[in-house]
Amino acid sequence: MTATLITGIGELTTNVGAAGDPCGTRHDAAVLMDGGRIEWVGSAADAAVGASVQIVDARGRAVIPGFVDSHTHVAFGGDRADEFEARMAGTPYAAGGIRRTVAATRATSDHELRERIAGFVREMNEQGTTSIEMKTGYGLTVADEARLVRLAAEVTPEVTFLGAHVVPAEYADRREEYVELVCGPMLAACAPHSRWIDVFCERGAFTVEESRRVLTAGIAAGLMPRVHGNQLGHGDGVRLAIEMGAASVDHCTYLDDTDVAALARSGTVATLLPGVEFSTGQPYPDARRLIDEGVTVALASDCNPGSSFTSSMPFMIALAVREMRMTTAEAVWAATAGGARALRRDDIGAIAPGMRADLVLLAAPSRVHLAYRPGVPLVERVWKDGVPLS
Ligand code: NIG
Ligand code: FE
Repeated sequence: MTATLITGIGELTTNVGAAGDPCGTRHDAAVLMDGGRIEWVGSAADAAVGASVQIVDARGRAVIPGFVDSHTHVAFGGDRADEFEARMAGTPYAAGGIRRTVAATRATSDHELRERIAGFVREMNEQGTTSIEMKTGYGLTVADEARLVRLAAEVTPEVTFLGAHVVPAEYADRREEYVELVCGPMLAACAPHSRWIDVFCERGAFTVEESRRVLTAGIAAGLMPRVHGNQLGHGDGVRLAIEMGAASVDHCTYLDDTDVAALARSGTVATLLPGVEFSTGQPYPDARRLIDEGVTVALASDCNPGSSFTSSMPFMIALAVREMRMTTAEAVWAATAGGARALRRDDIGAIAPGMRADLVLLAAPSRVHLAYRPGVPLVERVWKDGVPLS
């Protein structure tokens, strides 16, 4: 692999923060990548050009780290466009549609699931996402969850076992037995292919006691915990996530004062998923308050067929700025470095020597355009591990 120098960068978001600028912005910058890693970052005037270096002239445009989408559910079959239409006509979202996707996923072959997952990965890459967390949760039998973790592990190291997504229909009257299945044979089959254990701790999904059992079993099997919490109403998800030392608690739509204060004191990231509120019509999480009170905030797409069927991180940034009063710098940081924190990764989410060479060249002079020009495809070129993806 030849080294590549991107020079003439009008605005470089390094995420190597200085006081008052978490994005560590540099102007007239250059970045050298070699062997899949960032080799050097400096001013364009100082860039030393070796004979074998391939040069890319950014012509004054902006470069940012590749997006880290730390929450997706794209291993599924079927479609729920009818549910979206009904919701737009007034039917509220209640997560009940998850069971429809479970039925459709079970009926989809490995081959078709693999093709669909590859399609989503391509779609994400084209929009600047270079790291993807991928959850199971639409299989909910030992065999189906096991094939979902295996298929997800073919495309990303960030695989999350979410057997505790909902209690499947066939266990509706035997939820205790289902929790035992998740903590026993299902976990045993999935843990070897997963890095994370997740649970949907919410009224209508799993109680705090059930969720604690699932996370405890996952940790004992060598997985790290993360939690879906406080999505549909106030509840115990955030408190449980902190108690279990979760890397992230995701949604955080309904928080009380104690939740916010506890998050600020914790090492748990609050991952906000504004595509959900856009698509369900619920109120957006109070990102401004979380950030002002010292909570680490990440942004992710939650791409799934029910509550947020978009994989666009630029769209998340536009929503965060327009609807959640985040500055563009905070939103871009949250969609890159924030996602890396939510995945406990220190090799992605920033542009600095030694980091993975995951970068996006924008067809725009600054990152502000990601929010200022919503819906416009501003991702011009993408590199993952130093290799051009587009
Ligand atoms: O993150 N909260 C639970 N799971 C998904 C929704 C899944 C669905 O509706 O299919 C979420 O929003
Ligand atoms: Fe989710």
